[in-house]
Amino acid sequence: MKNTVSTLMKQKQTGDKITMLTAYDYTTAKIMDECGVNSILIGDSLGMVMLGYENTLPVTMEDMIHHTKAVARGAVNAFIVADMPFMSYQVSVQEAVINAGRLIKEGNANAVKLEGGAEVCEQIRAIVRASIPVVAHLGLTPQSVNAFGGFKVQGKSLENARRLIEDAKKIQEAGACAVVLEGIPAKLADIITSKLTIPTIGIGASAGCDGQVLVYQDMLGLTSGHIAKFVKQFANAGEVMRQGISDYIAETKAGTFPTAENTYSIDDEVIEQLIREEM
Ligand code: KIV
Repeated sequence: MKNTVSTLMKQKQTGDKITMLTAYDYTTAKIMDECGVNSILIGDSLGMVMLGYENTLPVTMEDMIHHTKAVARGAVNAFIVADMPFMSYQVSVQEAVINAGRLIKEGNANAVKLEGGAEVCEQIRAIVRASIPVVAHLGLTPQSVNAFGGFKVQGKSLENARRLIEDAKKIQEAGACAVVLEGIPAKLADIITSKLTIPTIGIGASAGCDGQVLVYQDMLGLTSGHIAKFVKQFANAGEVMRQGISDYIAETKAGTFPTAENTYSIDDEVIEQLIREEM
């Protein structure tokens, strides 16, 4: 069954937790969809995990459309959410609607996600008026890395926590269909979840959120270097890949790959004739 805005809303109402994972390509999206994940996010995290940038800021609309198209071809049932990259919605409401429209028309996404609270409510209203569902994103919003002075947990002070609660109410009022809560204290995420009628999807937030999202390279053990505290590694696919690649190198060098099992046969008569002709 196709996951939609309505089914996600029903999941909040019934307490059935929403599962969301990032994906950026056809093969991974197909596996996730077959596993039954409710939603796939083509996150602008692709700048870091797929393209090797230091942060998400250099990601372009063209990058997002290219990867969203690939995911949409692989996912049949998952609700497909595409991130609006940095500077694709901040400059003007008109640009925000045009770029959201491109992610739906060209990328085949079901919804778009953008970062921010009160300051992006006008954009949310206009995009929703164009019949495009919007997922909001509050807390440690990576596109604000320079304004925050690094990837820092948000909402720890009374003033900051109050502002996040107000922002959550405002984006809901503006028409957002869900909100990602990233890098905020668990008890604050629980308060926000209890105040909203739309689903909250946590990452580095709380098990009390209506759903969870993780970057797939993190949760499958494909990421090297610093791993954030909120990441749980559900499998070590990195180790499986390293082993497979090392075995391939060793067997190819030793000449033990390919074997008869991996090659094609030909009639002996044909070969004998060929050899005679070559002599
Ligand atoms: O870009 C992304 O992958 C995200 C998730 C971390 C929520 O925004």
